[in-house]
Amino acid sequence: MSDPYFQKLFAQRIGGANYGKGTEIYKFEKIKRAKRKALADHPERDLIDFGIGENDVMAPRAVREEMAAEIGRPENRGYADNGIPEFKEAVAQFMDQQFGVNLDPTTEVNHCIGSKTALAMLPATLIDPGDVTLMTTPGYPVAGTHTRYYGGEVHALPLLAENDFLPDLDSIPADILSRAKLLVINYPNSPTGKVATAEFYAKVIDFAKRNEIVVVQDAAHIMLTFEGKPLSFLQVPGAKDVGVEVHSLSKGWNMIGWRIGWVCGNERLVSAFADVKDNCDSGQFIAIQRAAIAALDDPEIPELTREKYGRRLEKLVDVLRRCGFECAMPGGSYFLYTPTPKGVAGGPTFDSAEAASQFLITEQSICTVPWDDAGAFLRFSVTYEAHDEAAEDALMAETEERLKAIELLF
Ligand SMILES: Cc1ncc(COP(=O)(O)O)c(C=O)c1O
Repeated sequence: MSDPYFQKLFAQRIGGANYGKGTEIYKFEKIKRAKRKALADHPERDLIDFGIGENDVMAPRAVREEMAAEIGRPENRGYADNGIPEFKEAVAQFMDQQFGVNLDPTTEVNHCIGSKTALAMLPATLIDPGDVTLMTTPGYPVAGTHTRYYGGEVHALPLLAENDFLPDLDSIPADILSRAKLLVINYPNSPTGKVATAEFYAKVIDFAKRNEIVVVQDAAHIMLTFEGKPLSFLQVPGAKDVGVEVHSLSKGWNMIGWRIGWVCGNERLVSAFADVKDNCDSGQFIAIQRAAIAALDDPEIPELTREKYGRRLEKLVDVLRRCGFECAMPGGSYFLYTPTPKGVAGGPTFDSAEAASQFLITEQSICTVPWDDAGAFLRFSVTYEAHDEAAEDALMAETEERLKAIELLF
């Protein structure tokens, strides 16, 4: 196919004149291809899918019914701009009841069309060419991608097992620190499953103040906290002076596809976010905001979600341990992040998590997500489809049988 006349016009941020010509296959595409191949090569074998990072059930009936009713109301038909006051009030009430965090709903809360969009827009509020965003790795890359779009740089803070999967803020070189404007953290962390402590957050706040850096804490998985009670960054004194927290109804309330979340915290930062957002979208459909209010009003929804994924993670930890993996119950998220096996008795050996993950899909139709960013780890998600506990147990038994059939070496 010959190039269109505008091929040379593509912006450098997406590859310039080379846009669309790359041959590199990205991790998730490789996984998709391997899954298709495993299904074609072994039609007799079900794929055991620990690769998906999306809740496996719909939003609860009451939330869907609220949505159905709100769709029919003519007053919900228009642009929602920066959100209806009732949603902001419901968020403020939730943050107060759940975390004891006091927020002014009019100035310290703004909705977003899923937290992904908020993480994409926040760099626009701070990053000019040459500025630096500090970001933990492995992690959710969206704020980093947009930092680069604005001509900024990303400085990676590796999450290492030896540091208990917390970033080493003292290791950042002075020349990076002097250009850093933004620190993006994410707890409960995806993919490591680590939860933050109040002490860690206090350290982050001190670091931010000393170095004049803004903090964005991504709390997408906060209601899936198993170690202690869910902890908001904003519970820690001083947090509101340095940053915002980004929340989502996707995971805790089974509302992945609904696209609704919020940014809350420092008033000036919330306002800057709202200004950028106002220039990007016209707000989430009001019926969805109203259904989200119903969801936020029902503490049982996140509690049941937490219970289910917690139970599934405990079962998975038991199975993987019996198969030689060195793993423990994560503090939060629906992911189990565990060191990769080194190989299989009699060969092959794995030089990366990706090699191990490909082997598990190809040989045993077990899908995982490999992470090679800071050590070699496999991520098992417990969002597989299983309609009841008996189905979960059967899937665990099948996983154990398949993993024991290959003798993994660690
Ligand atoms: C760590 C993290 N942050 C944010 C998001 C985005 O979630 P949403 O846009 O559905 O709110 C995800 C989604 O997988 C995530 O894993």
